[in-house]
Amino acid sequence: MEIVIQPTAEAAGELAARVIGDELRAKPDLVLGLATGNTMEAVYARLVRMHRQQGLDFSRCRTFNLDEYVGLSASHRNSYRHYMNHNLFLNVNIDLRNTYLPDGTAADLEAECRDYEQLIAKCGGIDFQLLGVGRAGHLGFNEPVSSLRSRTRVKVLSPVTLAQNGPLFQPPDQMPRRAITMGVGTILESRRCLLLATGEEKADIVAKAVEGPVTSMISATALQMHPRCQVVVDEAAASRLKEADYYRWIFENEPKCRSYPNELSPADTDGRCLSPAVEEVVSRGRMNKN
Ligand code: GLP
Repeated sequence: MEIVIQPTAEAAGELAARVIGDELRAKPDLVLGLATGNTMEAVYARLVRMHRQQGLDFSRCRTFNLDEYVGLSASHRNSYRHYMNHNLFLNVNIDLRNTYLPDGTAADLEAECRDYEQLIAKCGGIDFQLLGVGRAGHLGFNEPVSSLRSRTRVKVLSPVTLAQNGPLFQPPDQMPRRAITMGVGTILESRRCLLLATGEEKADIVAKAVEGPVTSMISATALQMHPRCQVVVDEAAASRLKEADYYRWIFENEPKCRSYPNELSPADTDGRCLSPAVEEVVSRGRMNKN
């Protein structure tokens, strides 16, 4: 894991958007896993700006969202399809036919989950997965005791999630009690992932996710098993990390880690940098020399 502490929520969102922009430029037909929630709004606003101001091109990109509420149609204002259309898809040059979310209104939900997994596989798997984290530590809607090898399926939402997301519904008891979510196993198969968490209310769960024991009670802890995972947080969300100084030390002592490594050549570093992207560049360089 690579922990990146940014001074503000704004800077953290900006960094996440920059990383996605770099991925998309490097691979225009990127298979991009997306997340919803308040935290992501800043990322999507920046991606829209990058599209408008820098011509960031989404025309060949395919996207898969983590989850969708059971029973909400695409036009429902609380559906994640509605959220994605309005926060990102309709504001960039993506082909809507290449944007996938589970269909929470499907007559056969089990078949829908199976098909979703198959579609991800057919597109070659997820290259980059963007993740948020719920206050109780869920990724997508992988509620406590979600198997660490779980696949896309229907989950019953926990009381904590109902309390957290209920106020977004009018009235709150209109919130669906179930959702389709990618599984923890599905998420772990992404080639690279980035968890973004900001604000004091996420400080506890970030500390558990990064430094706590891996447990199915908190699906975010499973990211410790992901080979290429970045956790981007602001100071408030980092405030309960016991080893925050160590994570900062890495950046202070490895200045090249700070600017994301597109500009780096293998000769620029001796390989001590912990950034997975830098490690890849370095090992590619070593392979070329051998
Ligand atoms: C929902 C989504 C999660 C998301 C979480 C955090 O529960 N299913 O994928 O991570 O919200 O939301 P927020 O960013 O609003 O805290």
